[in-house]
Amino acid sequence: MATSPESATNPELFDAVVNLCKRRGFVFPSAEIYGGIRSTYDYGPLGALMLRNVREAWWRAMIQERDDVVPIDAAILTNPKVWEASGHLATFTDPLVDCRNCKERWRADEIEDVCPKCGSTDLTEARPFNLMFKTFVGPLEGDSSVAYLRPETAQGMFVNFFNVLTATRRKPPFGIAQIGRAFRNEITPGNFVFRTREFEMMEMEFFVPPADSPRWHEYWCEERLGWYMRYGIAGEKLRLRAHDKEELSHYSAGTTDVEFLFPWGWGELEGIANRTDYDLRAHQEHSGTSLEYFDQTTDERYIPHVVEPAAGATRTMMAFLLAAYDEDEIGGERRAVLRLHPRIAPYQVAVLPLSRKDTLAPLAKDVLHRLQRYLMCEYDETQSIGRRYRRQDEIGTPYCVTVDFESLEDQQVTVRERDSTEQTRLPIDDLVHHLLGRLDI
Ligand code: GAP
Repeated sequence: MATSPESATNPELFDAVVNLCKRRGFVFPSAEIYGGIRSTYDYGPLGALMLRNVREAWWRAMIQERDDVVPIDAAILTNPKVWEASGHLATFTDPLVDCRNCKERWRADEIEDVCPKCGSTDLTEARPFNLMFKTFVGPLEGDSSVAYLRPETAQGMFVNFFNVLTATRRKPPFGIAQIGRAFRNEITPGNFVFRTREFEMMEMEFFVPPADSPRWHEYWCEERLGWYMRYGIAGEKLRLRAHDKEELSHYSAGTTDVEFLFPWGWGELEGIANRTDYDLRAHQEHSGTSLEYFDQTTDERYIPHVVEPAAGATRTMMAFLLAAYDEDEIGGERRAVLRLHPRIAPYQVAVLPLSRKDTLAPLAKDVLHRLQRYLMCEYDETQSIGRRYRRQDEIGTPYCVTVDFESLEDQQVTVRERDSTEQTRLPIDDLVHHLLGRLDI
């Protein structure tokens, strides 16, 4: 279990970010007009943009910037035999206890023999509760039509291993990556989007010769830790933590988590597991299809071992928001600012005509359209310029471009930087080039 140092608890930060998410349209409780549904969230306009940026930053590092990883996009519903072979039907469980007094249900490993709601110690024995959501495929509900919503995207990569290997003429070491929704009927979801029943994962299965898996495991731990720092989380808020033996998942010979210092203490962002040949061997046995790789250069036949960096996109978005939230004072006025990395921020640029007068609109719109071809932009012409800057600071927009009356004469605009609030005047014709350079895009 992750430790929670007393000094790490920061409920004010948590409340400020949750509040901001609702107020500015990052995250809404799902179906709020009907009273919501427990611990399920919808991503609003800013959340949808930011989540997309998290995915793209991961995709960039894991696929685009490499020549040894290819993507897939597998179905959420699949043959239930997949979950039998993977071990999820038998072992993807949490220990469940009922409080006989208030009837609340808890995860036995999260409470210390006392019901957190009513304080009773009259609890049932712990029993395994399978976390997979069950459904039926087709119009008949029966044993033969049972299917499950995937609890991880990983199995889509394992069952497609041979198809991908042949179609792309790859040889180990190589990886298959995928981003997608996963579903777990968590007993105790909570802490906002940290633990939900529907969430998004970013996973990569890296297939290697068996003897090389420890080396690749080390490599991926460092690589993944570096990714969170690259996108703006300070090193002291991150750590790598190796799992104890009794913590390991049923498939893992060794797992190291990338952890973030959440307001309540250290919590997992990503698990990097050495899954050995557990999955490919299991699918080979259950399907009767050989999943061995034949290495023509060494004349060797083997089932590759797998190193798997598995991250949560929605949880990572929350960590980016918490790490970026700051309050400071500008000109004697308090401001809330999200110091998000430009690639992660929902908008990269806001275009702000100084006045709502019709005379500025055509030029401001022209500037907007030039920038929109390359960057996600917001256009805002309401209220005072100071207020509009504050609004952009609060949602993390790294640059504001102000079009004023002088711009009509000299074809120049003012670029204001979010963190320093520094302003630079430059020609409209240089704007795209200038901003792309500063944004590292
Ligand atoms: N295939 C490996 C696997 O599924 P995991 O540690 O169970 O590993 C990977 O999940 C990541 O997915 C976690 O590190 C976390 O970021 C995210 N995750 C897992 N359960 C989640 C939940 N209920 N809500 C939000 N994110 C979750």
